[in-house]
Amino acid sequence: RTRATPSSSSSSDVEAAKRVVSDLRDACATPATTLDAVAAAMVGEMDAGLAAEGGSSKVKMIVTFVDALPNGGEEGSFYALDLGGTNFRVLRVRLAGGGGVAERVAREVPIPHRLMSGDDATSENLFDFIASALAEFVADEEGRDGDGGDGERMRELGFTFSFPVRQTSIASGKLIRWTKAFAVDDAVGEDVVAALQAAMSKHGLHNMRVSALINDTVGTLATGSYYDDDTVAAVILGTGTNAAYIESTNAIAKLSSPPAELGNSSNTMVINTEWGGFDSPFLPTTEYDQALDAESLNPGEQTYEKLISGLYLGDIVRRVLLKISTKSSLLGGGDTDLLTTRFVLTTPDVSSMHHDETPDLAIVADKLAEKLNIRGTSLETRRMVVEICDIVATRSARLAAAGIVGILRKIGRGGAGDERRSVVAVDGGLFEHYAKFRQCMESTLEEMLGEEAAARMFIKLANDGSGLGAALVAAAYSQS
Ligand code: GLC
Repeated sequence: RTRATPSSSSSSDVEAAKRVVSDLRDACATPATTLDAVAAAMVGEMDAGLAAEGGSSKVKMIVTFVDALPNGGEEGSFYALDLGGTNFRVLRVRLAGGGGVAERVAREVPIPHRLMSGDDATSENLFDFIASALAEFVADEEGRDGDGGDGERMRELGFTFSFPVRQTSIASGKLIRWTKAFAVDDAVGEDVVAALQAAMSKHGLHNMRVSALINDTVGTLATGSYYDDDTVAAVILGTGTNAAYIESTNAIAKLSSPPAELGNSSNTMVINTEWGGFDSPFLPTTEYDQALDAESLNPGEQTYEKLISGLYLGDIVRRVLLKISTKSSLLGGGDTDLLTTRFVLTTPDVSSMHHDETPDLAIVADKLAEKLNIRGTSLETRRMVVEICDIVATRSARLAAAGIVGILRKIGRGGAGDERRSVVAVDGGLFEHYAKFRQCMESTLEEMLGEEAAARMFIKLANDGSGLGAALVAAAYSQS
């Protein structure tokens, strides 16, 4: 496939492209007043979500049934499954007691696209795939340490399922709806643990029981607090975005008649906010966001997530480049078949271009050629591309910071007189691998909280918190 080499651009071409970028900059602006309004609106939606089950708030505030986080004393071997992004992972963790993870073995398995959406994407196919990978892993692990003969022992599994689930106990819950790149229609409304357990039996995993069903945010919170007692909240910044935090039960109006199985002695409850569903007129959105939403698997939903998370940032940038290519010949004009393909440009691509420090922006040139078949751009055009990445990533990072400030306000942390240390555990590739994103989010937190309060706030990477956390929660709720 060939693409016209960008012709020597006329000054009107450059002007047209510059206008697209400056319009984008204006539409994505996140001044302090906007961020403050977003944080306040987030608190309002969180309050509304706690008031009534199935209420109108777009922030669901799911009661997780996790009222006791692991305390470090847990011991033994536990398995975990982590489903939610593009890969799914199987883990075995050996906890030594005394706060130590003695061993962690993990296997990552890519999920075929046909199981995520489309005609083959049925609940049965998806859970069958998962259970078969789990069975293989268990056989390998137990063969490896000669554990295979112990058929009697019950293995315990923590299941991280990172979608909105109406939890009915610590180990059961019904899928409310899919988010991100999943659309397995017949699973909606289904008890995902029952579905998993049925598939596990089919694959011979009779001696394994699901002891905990958790969201990735809850796993990250568990991991965070396993290592640091001052952990108050956890945030995922990866394919999707979400947050969980520790709430006091008397602030959860919809828990007025607590379910019987809650022998709640701690008077606290982890809430999975599902903040990705947040929407507000204060959110700065553009024509690109609207088009992305309209063409997505879940139009009208997950507005905040679509402005922030890794599944979407690359595609927003692609849409801006497409617009420039229709207004000028700087990106080759004419042939736009790759530029019109959804998700050809990924967030890791945006990150590499954004961090390009070569004098002639050679990395940008490579990415444009490799991913979009755009060649022969001028340095000025490549600078423009970097600026677009910067605008989109900056909006994302600043909005994520505003969400975190919303949570801190909600639990009365990080105020001027608050002397306590507060730790927010974070997991997800966007935070882990996109340095400029992370720096921007952290400096925005400082800007919003003030230097003094920010000095008592710690944003800590909880590497693989979501998978490890499932094993930790399974251990804390272990029945043996
Ligand atoms: C989406 C899911 C949510 C998950 C988040 C991060 O927002 O709905 O449950 O925590 O992605 O994976």
